Order: sequence, then structure tokens, then C-alpha cells
Amino acid sequence: MDMFVIQGGYPLSGRTTVSGAKNAALPIMAASLLADGMTTLHGVPDLVDVDTLAHLLRALGSQVERTESGDLTLEVLNTRPNLADYELVRRMRASVCVLGPLLARRGAACVSLPGGCNIGDRPIDLHLKGLKALGASIRVERGYVIAEAQRLRGANIYLGGPFGSTVTGTANVMAAATLAEGRTTIEAAACEPEVVDLGHYLNAMGARITGLGTPFLQIDGVERLHGVPHTIIPDRIEAATLMIAAAMTHGEVRIDNVRVDHMTAIIEKLREIGVTIDVNGTSVRVTTSGRLRSIDCIALPYPGVPTDVQAQLMALLTCASGISIVTDKVFPDRFMHLPELVRLGARIRREGNCAIVSGVGELSGASVMASDLRASAALVLAGLAATGESVIRRIYHLDRGYDQLEIKLNQLGAQIHRMVDEPQNMPASLTLSVSDKAEDTSDPTHELRGPTWLKRMGITPRTEA
Ligand code: UD1
Repeated sequence: MDMFVIQGGYPLSGRTTVSGAKNAALPIMAASLLADGMTTLHGVPDLVDVDTLAHLLRALGSQVERTESGDLTLEVLNTRPNLADYELVRRMRASVCVLGPLLARRGAACVSLPGGCNIGDRPIDLHLKGLKALGASIRVERGYVIAEAQRLRGANIYLGGPFGSTVTGTANVMAAATLAEGRTTIEAAACEPEVVDLGHYLNAMGARITGLGTPFLQIDGVERLHGVPHTIIPDRIEAATLMIAAAMTHGEVRIDNVRVDHMTAIIEKLREIGVTIDVNGTSVRVTTSGRLRSIDCIALPYPGVPTDVQAQLMALLTCASGISIVTDKVFPDRFMHLPELVRLGARIRREGNCAIVSGVGELSGASVMASDLRASAALVLAGLAATGESVIRRIYHLDRGYDQLEIKLNQLGAQIHRMVDEPQNMPASLTLSVSDKAEDTSDPTHELRGPTWLKRMGITPRTEA
């Protein structure tokens, strides 16, 4: 397993480019199962999650290749397989996006339930409700969803859930409805730009979907769809992460390939915090002047602030002056990054689905553990801003969803070193010695605590190897 060793405190400067959106690329790759002929996707990011889905699509009879120019080509060669095995689905929840396309095109699908996840409960009941409404018979057996239908039939479907709309649920039902007989309407559909991008791809293939980007979709079923070229939209979550990196290090960064129209809520919040964002077409220039301000912020379905940026925004707010309240209404338990940020010197308290963040002057380097994709990004951002050295373990989460993040950040002047996570690779500066005066050294986590606690415990950092 790899880890990052980050020397913090270097302001970022220069120019970087955002990659294609993971959350658009994955459902679009899955929807290629609906098409006759070849799909060519431009701008698919180079990620572990993309490789995992490519692997699954190959097992489902597709030929998937990366061309020399970086495009991804996908073509169904065998329409018989319909099993999405647990071994692949458990690695990545978005694998469930093959369910709707398989059912619509092959009349049957056997897809593993994705299982648990670090950011909270993630049921797929709404996916199944929508597919059942389209006439599928669905049962869950031995951890697998077994769905069958001779031909799906159009229906009126309400897809709202207790936490709002569902992004991949809308993708699954919308994709399935493109080949259903007659008209389907979906109410409370997700409006995320990634769902719109999928809709544009399906329409280019011959589907008839209207209402994209609104909660009310209308889909008139067609007999067949054909492969087309398509360009994936830029990743708004990566763009936001890079903006926050520039702001947290008080740098000056120009970011290209940004769809600012997909980022209104995020840009608004960053400006409220005191970050200057100058927009010029698809480029933004990010700078700061003076201390950042606290804000209240609620993660909501689009067009609200995305839950996928909640952790990164929280990292930024740890360095702002005053008290901020960060609420997540999409994933109310998505706070695994909180105790790790505290280890880096942040002052945060959780109250249900809210985190109360008291801004501190500066963060201080420590050893922390990444728990999920966006939490990893938040810890990297905090490590960039912290004084001294930070070690971030389990950064395989980051590799799942960010295309070369550390390379991009290092090109802007960050000091991030990727190392294999082995005891001999632990940086000497994070090895601590415990003095005889310590009150209680029985806590096995003592080598991982912050400077104030260390002083209280009579522990002095040892810098020699
Ligand atoms: C997608 C994104 C993920 C993002 C999330 C919310 C992809 C590949 N992943 O995940 O990065 O964090 O949207 O923007 O696009 N829910 C139900 N029943 C369901 C489905 C969802 O109750 O059948 C709940 C979930 O538990 C959650 C909320 O609805 O509380 C939103 O989940 P959903 O939009 O489905 O997330 P994903 O599509 O899995």
C-alpha cells in the first residue's frame, strides 16, 4: 500500500488542468452496454475506478481499450454474459450502473449488491423501485440482484428518497428506459451535470430524453441505440479540490478546463470564505488575501454544494477565522475525515449531521489515515497547509478517483512524496520519544497525537533517524 509524505507550508503557484469527470465517465461506460457498434470516449480520466469498470465490462462481453491518444473505446462483442460478480462490484459501488443497461439490452442481469461503504448507508432500493416500475421482476438472492424482463415498458416513476434524489439510481433507470416500450417519466430525478452528460451521450446514441438537468425527465423508448464518440465533462469535484488547494496554501493558481456553470454553489461559498476566483471562459485564477472567513455550508443534491466537496471545504474552514458549521444532508454520516483533521490540529466537533469547525491559526503535520476518496483529498489539502511533515496512509482511496493529483500538485510547487507504507519508510521526524515524566503512556496512539497533547504528556518529538 502507498502513503504520501507531505512537507507542508509551500504556497502553490502556476497552471494546471482538470481531468474528465469520474462520476460522468463511469455511468457512461456502463451505458455503452446498450449500444450496437463502437463508443469512443474522449477525456476519460486515468483512474483505478475506470480500470475496475473496464474489467467488469470485459467480463460482460465488451472489448474495452485505451488508444494511444488516451481515448477509451468500448464495443459489445458478446451479449450473453449478465453476471456482475461481487469481487468486482465490491471494489467500486458505481459498478451497479451496469444493472439498468444489462436488463434493458439483454433481458436479464445478475448484479452483486455493492455492500457497505465508509461514507454511510448506501442502499439501492430506489434503483430497484424504478426498474420494477418498468416491468422488471427483481429478487435479491445470496447477495445478488437478479432482474429479468422480456421487454421493459414505460412507466411514471417517482425516484425521490429520504435524502433527496439518487444520482446513480437516476442513471440506471434513465438508461434502462431508453429501450423500454413507450414513454417513461421520472420525477425527482437527479439534476447533477454527470447525469446530464449521460443523457447527452444516450441521446447522441439515438435515445429520446428530454428534461435533462431538471427533476422531471421524459424518455420515449426506441428500438436500438448505436455507439458514438463522446467527450466527458470536466470533473467539478477535482476543480473544487484544486481551488481549495490554492486557497489553503495562499497560492496563486490558474486552473484550466473548468465548467464554472457546474460549480456555482462551490464558487459562491469559496468567495464567501474570502477566496478570489477570477473566471475567464473555462479558466479560473484562484488567489487569497488576508485571513479566510468562517461560513455555514450545507451539502445538498445539485445545484447545492456537493457532498463530494464537503470534506475538502471542511479542511479549508479549519484554517479560517471564526466558527463554521458544515452540514451534510446527502450522506449524514460522512465525517470520517473529522477525527483525522483533528489529529492535524483542527478544532472540530460533530453534532449529528453537522460539524462545528472552530478555525485555528495553523495546522501542524501529523500521521493520519485516509478513509474514503474525498476524505483522502481533504487530508492532502490539510497536509499542504500544515506546518512540517504529514504522512497520509491508505491513499489508494485517492487513486480510485483523482487523476494524478499529487503530480498536478507537485507541478504547482507542493512537496508530496509517494512511498510504500512500510515501517522503514516512516519519516524520522514523526518518530517520537517519551520522557520519564509522562503521566500516561499506555495509549498506543501516543505517537500519532498533536503537539499540545504531546507537551502535556511530556513527549518530545525526536528528529534524528
Ligand atoms: C453518487 C456519486 C457520489 C456522490 C453521490 C451524491 C457516482 C459514481 N457517485 O453516488 O460520488 O457522493 O452521488 O452526490 O456518481 N439513497 C437511497 N436509496 C437509493 C439510492 C440512494 O436512500 O436507492 C440515498 C443514499 O444513501 C444517499 C442519497 O440517497 O443518502 C444520495 O445517494 P446517491 O445519489 O444515490 O449516491 P450515488 O449515486 O451512490
